[in-house]
Amino acid sequence: MGSLEAIRFEHAGGRAKLELLEQRKLPLETEWLTIDGPKAAWTAIRDMTVRGAPAIAIAAALSLAVDLVNSGSGAQFDSAAAAAAHVAEQMDYLVTSRPTAVNLSIAATALKSLAEQEAAKLGASATSVTEAVMAACEQMLRDDVAANKTMGRHGAAALLEAAQARGRAQDGRLRVLTHCNTGSLATAAYGTALGVIRALHEQGQLEHAYCCETRPYNQGARLTAYELVHDGLPSTLICDSAAAALMAQGKVDAVVVGADRIAANGDTANKIGTFCHAVAAHHHDVPFFVAAPTTTIDPQLDNGTLIPIEERAAEEITHFKGQQVAADIGVWNPSFDVTPATLIEGIITERGMVPKASGSAAGFAIRPWLAA
Ligand code: MRU
Repeated sequence: MGSLEAIRFEHAGGRAKLELLEQRKLPLETEWLTIDGPKAAWTAIRDMTVRGAPAIAIAAALSLAVDLVNSGSGAQFDSAAAAAAHVAEQMDYLVTSRPTAVNLSIAATALKSLAEQEAAKLGASATSVTEAVMAACEQMLRDDVAANKTMGRHGAAALLEAAQARGRAQDGRLRVLTHCNTGSLATAAYGTALGVIRALHEQGQLEHAYCCETRPYNQGARLTAYELVHDGLPSTLICDSAAAALMAQGKVDAVVVGADRIAANGDTANKIGTFCHAVAAHHHDVPFFVAAPTTTIDPQLDNGTLIPIEERAAEEITHFKGQQVAADIGVWNPSFDVTPATLIEGIITERGMVPKASGSAAGFAIRPWLAA
């Protein structure tokens, strides 16, 4: 079996093609959707054909690249300024698809400022602007894979060290619990938290992976379980509510999860249910880690209370495959929760571990570290 991927992009002979794996049909059906531009990408993101913070950003950027290439590679614009304005307009639109994951808005800011800078250069043309933007969009795909592999190595070492410091995993092999899907299906490939689990496995240091179902959308049961089985990792699926009981039985040496947005103090928004696992891990003295690329960090926000939390349709809870399974009752369906930095042992990035705040300050010293 080849390696899993959720995003396929080709650019040759003056044409570009973007396809997204229809994740709503996994694990039972494998279907690819062709995305012809930002409008189709917006819908695919909003409706969860593609999901996971890094994958959302990459799919959105590549939808812009497809649009730019297939509409004339610059020839469709009268001027460099018009090309830059189009990039800004499309990225601003794409950012409105889902609010919590920050990777897309960071990518949008970067692409908009690249387009502006290119347009301001002496002798700039619409073509030079679109070529620079297209190249940057395509580079995101490659950078994400490289970041994930590096994160995997850093994370494997950090989890093992933290578990062993607590007298766990003395044989050098870890039992790791994770939540939601943070693997190849949520990124360009390999994954963030699931990348750490993959790295442990590659190094012979994974005893067992436990993936939580991740109600209500079942990213764990449908997607992470699919990836674990695909790669042949020793693994078990549990209900979200079984995680504390598993820890109480001493069967979890470390927890690693992904992130949708990390505030400047380290408070972390991730899939709903993550906070419960962090509380349970704290109670059982199990180290709890977050793995995310630096493009998931939002240094503008002082703390997690400022992170916008997406609320999704009631039907995700009340219905299963179109069939109503809950009574007619009001529903609160936040897609994410915020785990306070004080419950997080370490934040793993492609640049290494984020340093803890010094002295009596709680949390992480993200701003100086990012600026360095
Ligand atoms: O609603 P989703 O499926 O987009 O939520 C995904 C998560 O919460 C992931 O943990 C996060 O985006 C990190 S993916 C590498």
